[in-house]
Amino acid sequence: MSRPIKIAPSVLAADFTRLGEEVRAIDAAGADWIHVDIMDGRFVPEISFGPSIVKAIRRSTAKPLNVHLMVVEPERSLERYRDAGADHLLVQAEPGSTVHLHRVLSQVRELGCRPGVVIDPATPIAWIEHVLHLVDIVLVMTVNPGFGGQAFLPEMLPKIAALRQLCDARDLSPHIEVDGGQDAHTASAVIEAGADVLVAGTSIFNSGDYAQAIRKLRNYAPGP
Ligand code: DX5
Ligand code: ZN
Repeated sequence: MSRPIKIAPSVLAADFTRLGEEVRAIDAAGADWIHVDIMDGRFVPEISFGPSIVKAIRRSTAKPLNVHLMVVEPERSLERYRDAGADHLLVQAEPGSTVHLHRVLSQVRELGCRPGVVIDPATPIAWIEHVLHLVDIVLVMTVNPGFGGQAFLPEMLPKIAALRQLCDARDLSPHIEVDGGQDAHTASAVIEAGADVLVAGTSIFNSGDYAQAIRKLRNYAPGP
């Protein structure tokens, strides 16, 4: 089955000295969603930024803000990110992030945002089986979270395929988003496995031509 492919550039790889300009450039270059990585220095070692920067990004684009919370206790800050302009709030499934995943995902919906759940490379699909019906997006990490510029983990391909099968069997159709090490070479394999949203930081922002980089990621057409 072919679904329209969405590309979500990750602003983590943007030039922060010109953030507004960078966001406007990827918007004009054809980004579908803008991926925003929140890192708290606890769930992952790095610290990126918080709601005030999300607010600045919001002022630079009307495209959906796909906010990936790599934080401990996301329940404490959901409302602040909603108020800053987040459209999607994606929460890590691991108990090192939140203990009450089911409740947090329901809270995201109650706040008026689209809920997403994220699984790290070592996290089995079984951990999200009982919350699948609550989410609009499942984000499969294809690197260990925390840094941009890492290499794609091909062992995630069977996981993406198994997740798509599980969703089909349950008659659910969340977006399956992939994040980490995505470029024109990995796109065909993840799309064939069942992903329909590709996050890419380095391969877009380090390219000389954002529109062409986005086109190359999107334009993979599965064979007959
Ligand atoms: C990794 C982040 C990613 C990162 C992807 O922890 O969640 O969104 O920005 O960057 P690239 O595309 O460089 O792997
Ligand atoms: Zn991310």
